Amino acid sequence: MNVGIDAIHFYSSNYFMDLRTLAGVRNVDPDKYTVGIGQEKMAIPPPDEDIITMAASAAHPLIERDGKDNIELLLFATESGIDQSKAGGIFVHGLLDLPARCRVVELKEACYSGTAALQLACSAVARNPKTRALVIAADVARYELASPGEPTQGCGAVAMLVTANPRILAIDPEVGLFTSDVMDFWRPNYRDQAVVDGKYSTRVYLQALQDCWKQYCEESGRGFSDIHRFCYHLPFTRIAEKAHERLARASGVTVTPEQIAQQVGISLDYNKIMGNSYAASLYVGLCCLLDNEMEDLSAKRIGLFSYGSGCVAEYFSGVVQSGYRDRLLTDSHHVLLENRTELTYRQYEDIYNLAFPTDGGGHTFSRYRTGGYRLAGVKDHKRLYEAVL
Ligand code: CAA
Repeated sequence: MNVGIDAIHFYSSNYFMDLRTLAGVRNVDPDKYTVGIGQEKMAIPPPDEDIITMAASAAHPLIERDGKDNIELLLFATESGIDQSKAGGIFVHGLLDLPARCRVVELKEACYSGTAALQLACSAVARNPKTRALVIAADVARYELASPGEPTQGCGAVAMLVTANPRILAIDPEVGLFTSDVMDFWRPNYRDQAVVDGKYSTRVYLQALQDCWKQYCEESGRGFSDIHRFCYHLPFTRIAEKAHERLARASGVTVTPEQIAQQVGISLDYNKIMGNSYAASLYVGLCCLLDNEMEDLSAKRIGLFSYGSGCVAEYFSGVVQSGYRDRLLTDSHHVLLENRTELTYRQYEDIYNLAFPTDGGGHTFSRYRTGGYRLAGVKDHKRLYEAVL
């Protein structure tokens, strides 16, 4: 019996800033952002949007179309948690009115936790194939103003329904795993921006990839030519091209720029204009590939590399199921990304500097453009969400 992704949909903010605008303000050559790191725009959440509203907006179309019966597990993967105690997924469970018979927990390991959630969901569904699991990865990537990480900010959420006999991607059981205690990127509880040793983090990412890939190949007996398309965790898109060269070299293969564009390039376009969405990022890339690859990918194997700073990494793969295109929500993704509102630098900085109220008083948040859910306010230290469907 196969287990894997039966439905997938993402949501991101309706607001963005063009990185050429940022380059102008920071007095940087725009090509550094657009070519050097491979990013064009960054999605910026308005004050009434957070990981909960993005997660609910990502999952809503799946629940509307495929129903909520038998969803007995909701795994919420994030490193932008809004509470030290309560799982973010419980707010989403409430907003989506999911069945009370459901396990809900939050998972954290930087950008890797979405993959942990997906693999754990596959195991749970394999144990009881009559049930389904809802996996959601949602994050806001936030660095200090004027820091090297600033142009890689972004936000987004991906929701996936994991089932037996999935109609999009059957996940292979073979994996390559890598964990090492490193301080390449982290966020102490008292900070709301990440601390990062950027160049070191990139080196660890590439080293972890090599280790995971080697192990994956040994365990599966597969090699470079068995993988038709490659998706990588995308903190910024240029890293995927470097990673792919590295992976090919480790397999004794030389890839030309044209081959890199064909094997990896199509998965990059959404992330280029959304920025990093941490735990969701790899799966935004997967959506981008499935939505926009002209070639029929049915029965083709996709390789996926997941990396979370700190660090945990995994190489895994899946086989695209015939008829997958009927299950995709491509139009919803395109409509979202084509209809966003551009922010000026001043608007971006004002939103960035807006402090979240911590006084326990009642606060109402102005209404911005959001998905089907918004953060209406906060009172008595409780976040108040509302549906605006
Ligand atoms: N035209 C074209 N390219 C240019 C250029 C120009 N005018 N000016 C510079 N560049 C190129 C540089 O040559 C460099 O390319 P190479 O890497 O191929 O050498 C690239 O632009 C970046 O420039 P810098 O080397 O000067 O690097 P930077 O100081 O801008 O920092 C960064 C880049 C380290 C990625 C930084 O954006 C950062 O810290 N980002 C956050 C951390 C991160 O994303 N790490 C990734 C691995 S960790 C992870 O994956 C988890 C996660 O999600 C965070």
